[in-house]
Amino acid sequence: MHRTSIAKLFSILCLAAASASRAYDIPATVSNDTSSALFTSSATSLDGPKIHPVNNSAFDWWYFDVVSADPTSVASVVIVFYTSTATAFPFIPPSDSVTRAQISVSFPNGTIFSAFATADGATVTADDNASSGNWHGSGFQWSSNTGTSRYTIFVDSPEIGVQGTIKFHSVAPAHYPCGPMGAGQNMEVGPRIGWANAVPDAATTVDLVVKGTKLAFTGVGYHDKNWSDQIFTSNVASWYWGHGRLGPYSIVWFDFLALNGTEYLSAYAAKDGKIIAASCESNSIRVRPIGQNATYPPVLSTGPPSGYHITLDLQNAGTLEVDVSVMEKIADSTPEYTRSVGNMSGVVVPVGAYKVESDPTVLGGKALFEQFKLTE
Ligand SMILES: *[C@@H]1O[C@H](CO)[C@@H](O)[C@H](O)[C@H]1NC(C)=O
Ligand SMILES: *[C@@H]1O[C@H](CO)[C@@H](O)[C@H](O)[C@H]1NC(C)=O
Ligand SMILES: *[C@@H]1O[C@H](CO)[C@@H](O)[C@H](O)[C@H]1NC(C)=O
Ligand SMILES: *[C@@H]1O[C@H](CO)[C@@H](O)[C@H](O)[C@H]1NC(C)=O
Ligand SMILES: *[C@@H]1O[C@H](CO)[C@@H](O)[C@H](O)[C@H]1NC(C)=O
Ligand SMILES: *[C@@H]1O[C@H](CO)[C@@H](O)[C@H](O)[C@H]1NC(C)=O
Ligand SMILES: *[C@@H]1O[C@H](CO)[C@@H](O)[C@H](O)[C@H]1NC(C)=O
Ligand SMILES: *[C@@H]1O[C@H](CO)[C@@H](O)[C@H](O)[C@H]1NC(C)=O
Repeated sequence: MHRTSIAKLFSILCLAAASASRAYDIPATVSNDTSSALFTSSATSLDGPKIHPVNNSAFDWWYFDVVSADPTSVASVVIVFYTSTATAFPFIPPSDSVTRAQISVSFPNGTIFSAFATADGATVTADDNASSGNWHGSGFQWSSNTGTSRYTIFVDSPEIGVQGTIKFHSVAPAHYPCGPMGAGQNMEVGPRIGWANAVPDAATTVDLVVKGTKLAFTGVGYHDKNWSDQIFTSNVASWYWGHGRLGPYSIVWFDFLALNGTEYLSAYAAKDGKIIAASCESNSIRVRPIGQNATYPPVLSTGPPSGYHITLDLQNAGTLEVDVSVMEKIADSTPEYTRSVGNMSGVVVPVGAYKVESDPTVLGGKALFEQFKLTE
């Protein structure tokens, strides 16, 4: 065949593949090859794999969580489907397999359970906006149906003693660090840290049995993915991340310090299923610790704060001023990492107002959030 017709055929095949779903097999063994990472979005595969292959300095994972909507409950579940070694992401224990799933739960009384299940390889299938994944042999998988914005996680792992399902019904559109989904977006939330948020907020139902104890609740769910072709700790000094539902608003915050002191931001707010703010501009959001241990920037030797204050620019709709209080830490706290559930209260300050009105409508809600701090 002539050279140009091969090129033509190839581009036709690519076009055909672009609108269909595509399956990716990810081996359990670490690759010795150079890894390449995608940091600019295309029109498709928002939730698909972003690095290839998984070598010792590359990581890619699919993260899901849910916090109880009950104002008094600290129940939560976090499930992460990893394709990473402990060298690339040093906060997971070493293993022969790069394909592992982790579940961490907090019961309503604050008791924590966490375990890893090992897979002998994984398959991720991605279409335009959504994905499905099977961590073979681990008992962990998820599936999605983009048409109805639903994701379901299925767990059946006698090995770690967890069975059941988590059902997410998305109520807020997907986004990248700097804007709504679409081709040509920068997917770096900080230097060489990729981020795609397929489900910023979801009405979520948990129905699990954990070591013989039922854990069932409804709450505020979330799903995103992170990736890089470089070791995590070589690009991050600290970050504050979290999501929650505050009155009618679905919000996601991200405030990141790079090792050279540069601050990177990402702000997201949606209301009634529509995006109001999705930006990484320097005035889009500010997240700062408040209360006890409110040291900024946070360093290894300072304890975790009792809360955060968030200022989130809603563009024409004003500014959200939000206080987030830690109710319970839901991961074993280390100097480097804290994950918590909490309550939020906030008000919308209209455009042009100098301060909060004397009698504003106070919005409330629940949140799940984390901080990393990796330097002194
Ligand atoms: C990668 O290199 C190590 C050390 O040389 C070797 O043991 C391993 O089999 C290699 N892995 C693959 C997938 O080739
Ligand atoms: C993995 O790939 C990255 C990015 O191409 C490269 O810089 C790095 O040296 C590779 N790491 C290993 C352990 O092969
Ligand atoms: C908390 O709840 C868990 C799960 O129901 C139970 O196993 C544990 O004993 C409870 N702990 C306390 C201190 O009540
Ligand atoms: C993906 O999202 C876009 C924008 O919200 C929407 O127009 C499109 O129909 C979605 N695609 C699928 C397959 O659901
Ligand atoms: C990165 O991954 C963590 C899971 O460790 C997740 O909580 C967070 O949403 C992700 N966020 C960003 C912005 O990378
Ligand atoms: C930090 O690194 C970024 C990216 O390379 C660069 O744009 C910025 O100017 C640097 N900041 C300082 C304070 O060196
Ligand atoms: C503040 O830090 C101290 C020391 O690490 C710790 O004991 C305390 O629990 C922290 N406060 C909060 C609210 O986490
Ligand atoms: C969270 O709830 C506690 C207990 O009801 C309350 O004291 C605190 O002010 C609340 N925090 C926020 C930010 O709403």
